[in-house]
Amino acid sequence: MPQSRRAFLGTAVAGSASLIPMLQARGLEGGSWSPHFDTNGVIRLNSNENPNGPARAAVDAITRAFVDANRYTQSNDAALRAAVARRHGVKEENVLLGAGSGETLRICSEALTSSTAHLVAAAPTFEQPAAHMTRLGRETKAPPVDSMLRLDLGAMVAASPGAGLVFLCNPNNPTGSAYPLSDVLAFIQDVHRRSPNSFVLVDEAYFEYCDLAGYGTAIPAALADPRIIVARTFSKVFGLAGMRVGYGIAHADTIKRLEPWRLQNSVSALSSAAAMASCELAGHVKEQQRLNNEARAYALKTLNDAGFKALPTYTNFVMADIRRDAKAFQDACAKEGVAIGRPFPPLNTHARISIGTMDEMRRALPVITRLLTA
Ligand SMILES: Cc1ncc(COP(=O)(O)O)c(C=O)c1O
Repeated sequence: MPQSRRAFLGTAVAGSASLIPMLQARGLEGGSWSPHFDTNGVIRLNSNENPNGPARAAVDAITRAFVDANRYTQSNDAALRAAVARRHGVKEENVLLGAGSGETLRICSEALTSSTAHLVAAAPTFEQPAAHMTRLGRETKAPPVDSMLRLDLGAMVAASPGAGLVFLCNPNNPTGSAYPLSDVLAFIQDVHRRSPNSFVLVDEAYFEYCDLAGYGTAIPAALADPRIIVARTFSKVFGLAGMRVGYGIAHADTIKRLEPWRLQNSVSALSSAAAMASCELAGHVKEQQRLNNEARAYALKTLNDAGFKALPTYTNFVMADIRRDAKAFQDACAKEGVAIGRPFPPLNTHARISIGTMDEMRRALPVITRLLTA
């Protein structure tokens, strides 16, 4: 009996020799997950990834999507856009898809600044927008974070007159600090009072990990004001960093302005499938939050007990004052199989440590504290 291509490929892919070891290593048959299958023994606490991997539903969706790998992605884009819009209660015209939220950040940096309209981005904050400005030969004004490692909102407002784009990373990577929504909205108002034509990009990559009282999304503000964009990602709580899916949410006029800057087909069919499956997983998010909170509390206590100040963090990483050269310390940890973050100038004596699984933290933190107290 003739077999459809979809049925044939579906069986072939699920049973392919190369996929089976990977799935077994992930423990998929038993429904449990093993996050250590591809790390060569290194505990990866350097990129703020989700150590628990993607949800099983996302992996299943990727497997099913293989059969349509010969097609370009217009219909996948449309379906994902609709799913993201549903997730946030917005219209599809309010969604800009990208290969990670990094694509949204890059598009905003490029499209909304110019040789005469600078970027405002704190020092340190997520470096991608400022790095892009350097490549374009455009100016970035970079107010340092305050002594509590929070974004200095007053200094950022003061740097905003004439800016094309003001980048507010909330919670902030790499410092882990966050502001409640009321502060964010007051900040945006202040920026617009001083600089009415500036766009404000609120990066909420760590949104789901943030348990600060009064924290909330700036999406409603973005829908109401074309000068505000919110960036989100599937890379963090959904565990899809390697699939490269993120998006911006903004007023339809702003999306229309930004859309032409997208790289066509930048979100692959497999990535779309994984992201769409993840959109439906409320339980998964809760479980990831619980796991992160538990391991994060353990990390903070261990570092503080060892005498190295680690401030409250609203993300899946902690930043500790290690009172020594961060690069040398990163190298020392790497030699012992623990990968931690690089230095983030001007905080050259702080270490950023991502939150792994509890098991990983139980193995990594004794190494870290031993090296720190040696
Ligand atoms: C604050 C922040 N924004 C954006 C990104 C980019 O993530 P992605 O392009 O994977 O969505 C990261 C990555 O670590 C990040 O920390």
